[in-house]
Amino acid sequence: MSTVKTIPSWQALTQHDVFPEANHDEVARMNVLTHLNYHLSARVLPGVKQSYEQRVKPAFVKAHGREPESRHEIRQAMQQDSYFQFWSALRRNTMEMRHQAGRAMVLRQIDRIVSKVDALNQDAATLQLDDSIPVPDNIRDVDIHCQPGCYYTEYFANDVTVAASYDAGLFVTTAGLLGALSDGGGKAIANWLAQEHPGFKPRKILDIGCTIGHNIVPLAQAFPDAEVIAVDVARPSLRYAHARAKALGVNNITFVQANAEHLPQFANESFDLITTAMFWHETSHQAMPAILRTIERLLKPGGLTLHLEQPQYQGMGLYEQFIRDWDTYFNNEPYWGPMHDLDLKQMLADAGFQVDELFDVGVVSKVDEAIFGKREAGESGEDYGRAPVWNAFGLWKK
Ligand SMILES: C[S@@+](CC[C@H](N)C(=O)[O-])C[C@H]1O[C@@H](n2cnc3c(N)ncnc32)[C@H](O)[C@@H]1O
Repeated sequence: MSTVKTIPSWQALTQHDVFPEANHDEVARMNVLTHLNYHLSARVLPGVKQSYEQRVKPAFVKAHGREPESRHEIRQAMQQDSYFQFWSALRRNTMEMRHQAGRAMVLRQIDRIVSKVDALNQDAATLQLDDSIPVPDNIRDVDIHCQPGCYYTEYFANDVTVAASYDAGLFVTTAGLLGALSDGGGKAIANWLAQEHPGFKPRKILDIGCTIGHNIVPLAQAFPDAEVIAVDVARPSLRYAHARAKALGVNNITFVQANAEHLPQFANESFDLITTAMFWHETSHQAMPAILRTIERLLKPGGLTLHLEQPQYQGMGLYEQFIRDWDTYFNNEPYWGPMHDLDLKQMLADAGFQVDELFDVGVVSKVDEAIFGKREAGESGEDYGRAPVWNAFGLWKK
């Protein structure tokens, strides 16, 4: 008998000790939004391309005597198209509704979550918060991807609302593809290292912009003898990250409140592996040169720096650039487009790296059987969630 494996329920997420508890209606709300997101990307989005090819591009060519020459020209033309407007408005709304649903769920139980987080964090040397580190000006006032309060805002002592809400809501936008712990990217890095570089055993690992630690936890588990440092500027996220890691039984990560542009507390050439996961497009591109210089300074010769990130626009078709750039203009991701336009090789060279061996790879996450179930021999069904591939770039320091 064959079973169709499709989007799992939001309830399949691992209910770790600080994860928000959901009642019946909250689960239903998360599932409706998840399915709406999936429907929009799988069934409605292809129609946006058809609108472009069949209506918008021909009209543009007629008016200008040439095809669009940049993603910006495509966007300006598509903004007038009713099918694009329909898809775009719904997509934007699923994002706003995800945050409202997650936040409402968290806020009604915030005292309970905070007391659990506090108990797990009490007197821990592995959580190092520092009031004197401000959120940098260039990212402070941006509620990134429409997330109220971004990752930073706190309204009362030991607040973790934004972090718990992010933990609960990410599933909705990714339709479960990140797995039961929303850690598919980190698992993919760990798998890639195990397969491609089995002899590489980093003793000291730094993760920059860790947020709530989704992707550094799998690396810390893959290298249990390593000392792992995870930095971020967002206090509520770090509090939650630390408690979440403890709740998952991971004790080799120290979470540090720090601005990655500087990190004076760490010695030159002291890390074997420095990672980021979906970080660069959410920090300001203006901060990127200083952060890359920090990475170059901290990485040991022979060490690896590896970055999970959406692909750069260079060399990509204009329509694909336009559709990927949706987040810049309609999802409050102001750094997305400028970051994906950068010449990474040049940026890394400017930071002092020898870049001849800069590589781009697809890192593959194993199927998370905890959420998608096991596929029996001969079993057919949708391939949804079977083997997500994440883009990564990196280099070994000479
Ligand atoms: C998209 S999130 C990264 C996701 C995370 N790596 C994960 O695995 O889930 C971006 C994070 O970068 C942090 N960030 C942005 N600029 C930073 C900086 N200059 N120094 C440290 N953290 C920064 C933000 O606070 C936010 O938590």
